[in-house]
Amino acid sequence: MQLITSCRELVHWRRSCRAPVHFVPTMGALHHGHRRLIERAGLGPTAASAPQVVVSVFVNPLQFAPGEDFDCYPASLSLDAALAAAAGAALLFAPSVAELYPSGVEELFQLQVPKALQAVLCGRSRPGHFNGVATVVARLLGLVRPDRLLLGEKDWQQLVILRRLVSELGLPVAVQGCATVRDSDGLATSSRNSYLQAEQRSLALALPRILAAMRRRFEAGEAALASHNLVAETRQRLESAGLMVDYVELVQAATLLPLAAPHGVSLLAAAVFCGPARLIDHTVLMASAPIVAIDGPAGAGKSTVTRAFARRLGLIYLDTGAMYRAVTWWVLSQGGDPAAADAVAPLLENLDLRLSHGPEGEQLVSINGHEVSSAIRSPEVTAQVSVVAAHSCVRQALTRQQQAMGERGGLVAEGRDIGTAVFPAADLKVFLTATVAERARRRALDLERQGFAVPPLDELEAQIAERDHRDASREQSPLLMADDAVELVSDGLGIEAVIQALVDLFRERVPEEAWPDPAA
Ligand code: PAF
Repeated sequence: MQLITSCRELVHWRRSCRAPVHFVPTMGALHHGHRRLIERAGLGPTAASAPQVVVSVFVNPLQFAPGEDFDCYPASLSLDAALAAAAGAALLFAPSVAELYPSGVEELFQLQVPKALQAVLCGRSRPGHFNGVATVVARLLGLVRPDRLLLGEKDWQQLVILRRLVSELGLPVAVQGCATVRDSDGLATSSRNSYLQAEQRSLALALPRILAAMRRRFEAGEAALASHNLVAETRQRLESAGLMVDYVELVQAATLLPLAAPHGVSLLAAAVFCGPARLIDHTVLMASAPIVAIDGPAGAGKSTVTRAFARRLGLIYLDTGAMYRAVTWWVLSQGGDPAAADAVAPLLENLDLRLSHGPEGEQLVSINGHEVSSAIRSPEVTAQVSVVAAHSCVRQALTRQQQAMGERGGLVAEGRDIGTAVFPAADLKVFLTATVAERARRRALDLERQGFAVPPLDELEAQIAERDHRDASREQSPLLMADDAVELVSDGLGIEAVIQALVDLFRERVPEEAWPDPAA
């Protein structure tokens, strides 16, 4: 591992680096929470694309208010270098203040974090802190030019603010939050824990313990907690445990908007003073496991990426397309006219439609006791599925069934009306699309791979545009992008990049702490 202290050397190193660069900014005094971040930063999607990890150590004066611990912040560059090297970092960048801010702190361009993001949690009690964080991270990103920035979820407000900064400035870097690492006694790792004497440390343990207890009570469905009592009781219990409370607040995780009662994915966060240390921690409240809705036009690659995304995050993949196909198979096998609603409706009575997994993880579909996993892929079913799926009786029956399957959450569903009709309260809604030209190009490649004749591209484009028009203008469940969906245009992105973009969007809303990554 190289240790660099000058910006010039860093820029030089970056120019010659060909691998993706993953960046972990720190203020030093590295502990095993940092070690975990650095190790995770070193993981690439494939062994061949292993990234180079850059770690910075810089105690940033801009983010400390007068009277805070800037002058005594723990420093241990040689220990930091040993830990970063052991965790797999390629480069440690440790500039001085004069090196990073050559024109001095007074003459520096400084960023201003939007008011709403600073008016809560630590922003309220540490005015100016997040402006300092945003300014230094923007400066570091400009120098390191990483592909991926890794930050701990423990500083959730910092993570939300830096995600906004990256998105609003259009910086070409993905931001990844990683679950809070805790010591075996439950205390979240922090460089400031070193300020605690033994008995202060045992007092401090009340912070994670009380937050976890409140989460368990919320999960157990204690109705009285679903109000401001949650905050008041947490505060009271922290005080009774001998901690001086700076704040206890309940906010929406993704936006930091203050909440009167838990809603969606919420964060119950607290800061306390314990001896010389100010400690922060939070717990995530979720009434049910997360639901992700992925909609989009035909040919956008939804099913391939949704399946892989589900596997990556340990979510159940609800293949609504397979359900419509199974009903189509049933209608055809019963000799019903797929175009006649009054012939189809009676066939939906007492429908027993099941999705499950075989021993190899493959999807199994059965309808009314018939195993139809392969039969639903036949050309006959393919030719009739959009006709059958357009009947309102079919949409209603399957929507009801999909909603029942989603009751316990923990799933991702893909289709045309998942975010608008099936799961309108999904935690993440994505509209996955690609331009007509791109979808035509992919379709041509597919046909060629399967050994079919490939029509001219303009003909394929016309067919796709026609299908889009039909899907968007049909009466029953037209293809629509939900108002609160994120549009993801996959032109120019490989499958892995689309999956990663979905994972990053999911993680903006659902912290790892609340829904752990199965591979982590
Ligand atoms: O979280 C930290 O250690 C700091 O706020 C950061 C992101 C390194 C900026 O100084």
